[in-house]
Parts: sequence; structure tokens; C-alpha cells
Amino acid sequence: MAVKGTRAPVDRPVDQPGEAELLELVRAQPLPRHVAVIMDGNGRWATQRGFPRVAGHREGVKAARAVVRAADTLGLGYLTLYAFSTENWNRPEDEVSTLMSLLERSVHSELPELMARNVRLRVLGRANGVPAGVRRGMERVAHETRNNTGMQLLMAFNYGGRDELVDAFRALAARVRAGELAPEEISEAHIGQALYAADVPDPDLLVRTSGEMRVSNFLLWQIAYTELLVTPTLWPDFSAADLYRAVAEFQGRTRRFGGV
Ligand code: IPE
Ligand code: IPE
Ligand code: MG
Repeated sequence: MAVKGTRAPVDRPVDQPGEAELLELVRAQPLPRHVAVIMDGNGRWATQRGFPRVAGHREGVKAARAVVRAADTLGLGYLTLYAFSTENWNRPEDEVSTLMSLLERSVHSELPELMARNVRLRVLGRANGVPAGVRRGMERVAHETRNNTGMQLLMAFNYGGRDELVDAFRALAARVRAGELAPEEISEAHIGQALYAADVPDPDLLVRTSGEMRVSNFLLWQIAYTELLVTPTLWPDFSAADLYRAVAEFQGRTRRFGGV
């Protein structure tokens, strides 16, 4: 509990727990192993302030950095961030190219901190279509961090849930053609093993910022029984405390998986 008048910053009511108290609260209960986030609302954040949309993306990078730190501090096993979808290519060219260079630069500049935190970066999505320099930059960071044993940070980049399933079905079809697998043997496990990050458990919690009640082609197979949380907060305003609040809400839910 916050002590009135001692620790509360000016931008929140004094009787609401702050970041440190929230961290303590959520740590006292079982954590989700895997949290996935649809980081939405950068454009609206900028437009509301009379800035160009790309200014929102720059602020969004700062929010992502804060959330990665918070997730690691909390002790999450896996954090997946939706950074760029297969549909985001439909945006104006200058927005797309700014996003590409921002993502490339920020992944690169985070390398020392990822190493210091023992975080492993993995990229989910198709390499095809991504400018070679951007892809190489990300793959370099993924390579450098490959032996890190702490939190896994999964960046969904040029990612589409349907593309991921198409790629999985193609891989399985090839195995069928090679005589390694009979069609009637194909199970959920085979499909799971053919996904981009086969060893990663399904998300326990999916957070979407900025109020949209949709999944926008994200992790379609993996979210079958994921708890969903939509917050009206725009992504650049999303903080460590917001992540801890989301986890606290998750901890208060009862998951049934179709049972009673
Ligand atoms: C999320 O913010 C960032 C990406 C999709 C890359 P948006 O750019 O979608 O922001 P809004 O939804 O237009 O406000
Ligand atoms: C989803 O947000 C994709 C990312 C956050 C990268 P969008 O802004 O692209 O989704 P829609 O268009 O509102 O569904
Ligand atoms: Mg959006």
C-alpha cells in the first residue's frame, strides 16, 4: 500500500499503489509464464498532440524498452511484442521506412542491456520482404543473445498469424510428401512444432493497448485459451506499472480451459 504523501508521484492518486508496490504484489502470486502484447495506439498518441505519426512510434520504442525491463524485473519467462504485422506494409511508404529504421536501430542499441540482463531476443515472422539490412541487424542481435538463459523476448516482426500457419502447413505437407508423416497422424502437437517458435509455451495473457477489441492476425493458433486484456491506454503511455496491473488482473482470473 502506498503511504499517503510520501512516495506517490503527482500524476496518480495517492491511494493507488505505485510501481514498487505493484511489483511486490504481483510477485507474491504465480506469474504468467508468457505475456504477449499488441502495442497499438502510437499514431493516435501523436495525432492527439498534433505530431506526425512517426513521433508516436519513437515514443512507442521508449514504452517497449520500459516494458521489457519491467517484464524482466518481474521474472517473466517469455515476452512477445507485436512490432510490425504483415498488414502494416499497407501504410504510407515514409511511415513504413521510418518504422523499419526505428526498429533496426532500437534493437541494435538494446544489445548491451539485453546481454547484461541475460535476455535472449528471437524474431518471429517471415524474412522475405524485409529490407536486408534491417533483417541482418535483428538477426545479429538474436545471434549474439542466443545463449542467454533469462527471459526470452520475442519480436513479432513482419509477422502474420495466418502466414505462420501457412508456413507450418507447407512444412507438414513436405513431410507428408517425403513419406515421413501420414495425413491422419497430424496432430495439434505437429502443428505446434511447425510454428516459428515451437518450444515457446502459448501466451497466458495477451494485452492490447488503445482499446481495439481485435487480435489483428496475432498468434492465431497460440491464443486459443489465452486470457485477453484490452486497455484504453495508448501504447506510448503504457508503463511498467501498467504491465504489473495487467499481470495483477490476470492473477485474479479463473482459467477453465473448457472445464468447470
Ligand atoms: C502501433 O501503433 C504500432 C504499429 C502498428 C507498428 P499504430 O501505428 O497502429 O497506432 P494507431 O493504431 O494508428 O493509433
Ligand atoms: C496491430 O496493430 C499490429 C501491431 C501492433 C504491430 P494495427 O494498428 O496494425 O492493427 P489494426 O489495423 O488496428 O487492426
Ligand atoms: Mg493501430
